[in-house]
Amino acid sequence: MTRSTTPETIAREQQFAARNYAPLPVVLERGHGEWLTDVDGKRYLDLMSAYSAVSHGHAHPRLVRALTEQAQRVAVTSRAYHTAALGPFLEKLTRLTGLERALPANGGAESVETAIKAARRWGYQVKKIPQDRAEIVVARGNFHGRSTTIVSFSTEDSYRDGFGPFTPGFRHFDFGDLASLEAAITPNTAAVLIEPIQGEAGIVVPPDGFLRGVRALCDKHRVLMILDEIQSGLGRTGRWFAFQHEGIKPDGLILGKALGGGLLPVSCFVATAEVMDVFEPGSHGSTFGGNPLAAAVGLEALEVMEDEGLVARSAALGSHLLSRLRQIDSRIIRAVRGRGLWVGVDLDPALAPARAVVERLAAKGVLSKDTHETVIRFAPPLTISRAALDWGIDVFIETLEEFEPAPAHKADVNQADVTALPATPRRKAAMKSQRDTQRPTARPATRAHLMMSAPDHFEVSYKINPWMDPEHWAVSAERLASDAKRGWQALKLTYERLGARVEVQPPVRGLPDMVFTANAGLVLDRKVTLARFLCRERQGEQPHNRAFFEALRARGVVDEVIDTPAGLYFEGAGDAIWDRQRSVLWTGYGQRSSREMQFVLAETYGVPTVALELVDPRFYHLDTCFCVLGRGDVLYYRPAFSERALGLIEDLVGRDRLIEASDEDACHLAVNSVALGDDAVFCHATETLRGQLAERGYRTHVVPLDSFNRSGGAAYCLTLRLDLSTPVGAAKQPIFVEDDAVELRAAA
Ligand SMILES: Cc1ncc(COP(=O)(O)O)c(C=O)c1O
Repeated sequence: MTRSTTPETIAREQQFAARNYAPLPVVLERGHGEWLTDVDGKRYLDLMSAYSAVSHGHAHPRLVRALTEQAQRVAVTSRAYHTAALGPFLEKLTRLTGLERALPANGGAESVETAIKAARRWGYQVKKIPQDRAEIVVARGNFHGRSTTIVSFSTEDSYRDGFGPFTPGFRHFDFGDLASLEAAITPNTAAVLIEPIQGEAGIVVPPDGFLRGVRALCDKHRVLMILDEIQSGLGRTGRWFAFQHEGIKPDGLILGKALGGGLLPVSCFVATAEVMDVFEPGSHGSTFGGNPLAAAVGLEALEVMEDEGLVARSAALGSHLLSRLRQIDSRIIRAVRGRGLWVGVDLDPALAPARAVVERLAAKGVLSKDTHETVIRFAPPLTISRAALDWGIDVFIETLEEFEPAPAHKADVNQADVTALPATPRRKAAMKSQRDTQRPTARPATRAHLMMSAPDHFEVSYKINPWMDPEHWAVSAERLASDAKRGWQALKLTYERLGARVEVQPPVRGLPDMVFTANAGLVLDRKVTLARFLCRERQGEQPHNRAFFEALRARGVVDEVIDTPAGLYFEGAGDAIWDRQRSVLWTGYGQRSSREMQFVLAETYGVPTVALELVDPRFYHLDTCFCVLGRGDVLYYRPAFSERALGLIEDLVGRDRLIEASDEDACHLAVNSVALGDDAVFCHATETLRGQLAERGYRTHVVPLDSFNRSGGAAYCLTLRLDLSTPVGAAKQPIFVEDDAVELRAAA
């Protein structure tokens, strides 16, 4: 067979295909990961991932294996019979979403139709809306698919033109406007159906608190809240589901796209039992819905997402993508919007029509998609490497430069041209100041709230890490104890000078390491996860820590004190470092804390977590070899980590934001430092490290803590931050009620 040339292939497709799409002139033949190859062997970076359907990257080996193995076993049976594959898939989906029942289908629109039918029936059977009067409130600018019913409530003419008569029963409100939503609700409203972020409309992110407000209005008026997370779900926004950013739970959730792992159309309506139980046999169905092939691939898609930490990747790389795009100084860009690895760049069409930019990008090997003439969408596979993402952004910047009006031309435009140019000096200044505010900055000067434990009984009487040398201490115990007191006081004073408030936990004789309060627990969003120590020598600290945190709770400093689940070990903030810039929690395992704590903490705090394996016994807690500084730079010591962990760090932080600690600094426990905004408190710092920090805008404060170094600890170990919080609008309550979380809360 002779291969068609690109124009011939395109012509052939155009001759026989319906004209409902206008594809870019590329003919793709193969895909692997984030890369696609065309029929001529040219490679393209996929920054679109088929509207999120390829979140796992192309041809993910685990997914291809699940597909082929199941296809060889049995692929399609219809729902006239049970199959072994369906139950596990739907169980996983309900556990992840926190909802009770799931109804699988194929394309996304099918599941939107399911949701509409469920809402109407619920309206009649449960809410007792008069027959055929049920209404569903939808947002202006919505996109939920292309069926006749769905386009009936679209507000986009091109989706509707010529397709009437339309299905009645829908009312509109302005997306993001709660007053407009409340005005649209009537006694006959069965449901509000919305996208948490409007994708096709141009990645429109509603104001913080909007979803919480929708939840409250739905509760107030006894209306179902149904979220279409076909595009926003499954990690795209940096959380499993976009609703988690606001700590609410919908009554019904529509998923699709990435659920098929980039291989098959798989969608699902997931809902509470009250909603789903309106369906009885015969009332709804689909021949291919829930077939064993789809179920096997769907289950594997969810498991790959979990195993590969794709949600955390999306949060971390997404914040990098957003910040790089927001730093572009171009007159063409009007706005950059997005969340996670899902970003829309709004362009000034007078300077650069989005389609023209997308075509130019494709010619340079980067695939993206325009929407509404002005917005370019970036939604790469969540598996994308940081290097590839950076390359794609570089190409985008270079492409925009081609569209920028030439400087010489800018200089000699006459007054009439100036008014015609959309980028007036005032607007340009406004755009610049907007971009400036979006540059990474350290936390504004709020008063840090810290916990320390007095060193009165500090000594080295046992050896639980390579630093500890009880024999040495036996000789000079007294001198080193007084040094410890001096160092500890100096550290506390430094914090106070930097504006921090310090709570002091009373020490206990015989528990010398209690001074290392970072290990007492993790406090995030006023919720304490108590440590459970691996080393017997430190287990005696646990009841004292619990008592102190309970006292803090009684004083209103924290809200909840919860235990580490039975059977797991967790050494507190020493192995759980909150990264505000990237909205991820880095956890350490391999020495002291259990690897599974990653999942417990993700669930407890509703945040993505990245687990890093520690391989050097000298660096036995994550805080000894990994420090997130105030502006998001990360100081780390490479030999402490496994290859896989190093890959994750490089990928998610990026080489430009990494500072590699030297052997000398790391062995003086310099990495174990505390960042308070642009101030960083170290026990030691070589000239080189000081220079690197100063270059990046940090003020270094060095407090010698030699006596504590003898125990393997330094500034961070001696300090527990009580006031860390996840971003505004994020969940303040656990969202998912899985078995161990229930136990965990019951135990608390
Ligand atoms: C939010 C949303 N809902 C529904 C759909 C329709 O999905 P499908 O094209 O698989 O029918 C889409 C597709 O882009 C979507 O983004």
